[in-house]
Amino acid sequence: MTKTWRNIRGAFDILPWASVADGAAVPGSAAWRYVEDAIRQTMARFRFEEIRTPILEEEGLIARGVGEGTDIVAKEMFVVDRGRDRYVLRPEVTAPVMRAWLQHRLEQRGGVQRLYYIGPCFRAERPQKGRYRQFHQFGCEIVGSDDPRADAEAIALMLTVYDAFGVTGSRLRINTLGLPEERRRYAAALRDWLEPHRNALSETGRRRLDKNPLRLLDTKDEREQALLRDAPLLVDFTGEPTRSRYESVKQCLDEAGIDFEEDAMLVRGLDYYMHTAFELDSPDLGAQSALAGGGRYDLLGAALGSDRPAPGTGFAAGMERLFLALDAQGLSVPETASLDVFLVALGRDAQQWAFREAQRLRREGASASFDLKGRSMKAQMREAHRQGALFALIAGESELAAGVVQLKNMDSGEQTQLPADAAPTHILQCLGDARANDAPVSIPSP
Ligand code: HAM
Repeated sequence: MTKTWRNIRGAFDILPWASVADGAAVPGSAAWRYVEDAIRQTMARFRFEEIRTPILEEEGLIARGVGEGTDIVAKEMFVVDRGRDRYVLRPEVTAPVMRAWLQHRLEQRGGVQRLYYIGPCFRAERPQKGRYRQFHQFGCEIVGSDDPRADAEAIALMLTVYDAFGVTGSRLRINTLGLPEERRRYAAALRDWLEPHRNALSETGRRRLDKNPLRLLDTKDEREQALLRDAPLLVDFTGEPTRSRYESVKQCLDEAGIDFEEDAMLVRGLDYYMHTAFELDSPDLGAQSALAGGGRYDLLGAALGSDRPAPGTGFAAGMERLFLALDAQGLSVPETASLDVFLVALGRDAQQWAFREAQRLRREGASASFDLKGRSMKAQMREAHRQGALFALIAGESELAAGVVQLKNMDSGEQTQLPADAAPTHILQCLGDARANDAPVSIPSP
């Protein structure tokens, strides 16, 4: 039997139209473009500049950056072996951005770099709703500043993206993870406190207790959650500078009118964080409730071998989860890109005419399409509708012989006969007027 090839599990095709993959809706490419454009507009309003880093990075960069003991590095990397080199498909973009910042000495451009990205990431997790093996992140990194306002700026930018789409009901939680030394003292105290309860922990819990007890704080296991309610808190192991820094971040958020909850149990699954950590959850997402997350990573540069200070902060968000939230909240995204003109042709001469006129309209900057299968007039009009055409320009053999064509406004249904040679110029004029006045297109009398 011949094999039927399919995309791998946990990855999906984005088709020109909305589709379903593994039981979940996948928006069409026009919807992706619309959402990406809107994100870019928000990024531009905050004056963040785009950075694009390669999908492939050296394994060591991600291992050192994200942390050897994290689930991402220990269990979820897609590794590419090339002789003596080992690359990975990037599981996230913060470490690559820091690599680029160091490599290109971006601090020499002066000031603080406010960077953003949109693109695919890869993690070999067990696929489920909202969790994929190839997914897409958008996010920002502010590199070169240790000012608490930078943390608040990353949070404000993140929230503005969701506000721009009208997404509501999400919950921002923040915490301080302190300094590495404070965290180490806390981890030791937490381990000592938990040790007598070892037998009450799940197998994963026991593993975490040995390797990284802080990861137990965000356990989903209800028994462990109940146990941890009385555990010591990290904040009690932090010094004055850490606490006042945390106060400054909270004050900035208050000043910006941003609602947040403090969550002393919030930890993150990547090792580079210190001080501020935050997560944005949505009640609409089910088990994978995190829309976005981020925090400060002032020592990531040093972990990558830099002796130059490289303080940074930022967030990343899942595009697929944004789409899930939009869908759950009934916020529609345009599914088709608009089309200016669909040329409807009946008969060989008219088909040649449609081909020629489409090229002419496109040269003049309009978008134009036509049928390539010699279908009936009805089928062609249906196609014009499906493609969201503003106008249909219709010609049959006898009309062309008489030098006329029909121009139909697809929205109002209004139809006018025009001299064939004048039609494209006429359409371009209607489109130009409509764009200049930001009005719906109408057909003035020729
Ligand atoms: P993260 O929390 O690992 O952080 O991922 C950020 C977001 O990416 C998550 O909140 C989620 O929306 C999405 N995401 C993660 N894994 C998957 C997956 N398997 N399927 C679908 N969506 C997923 C980071 O990646 C950090 N680099 C964030 C950051 C930027 N911190 C500072 N700057």
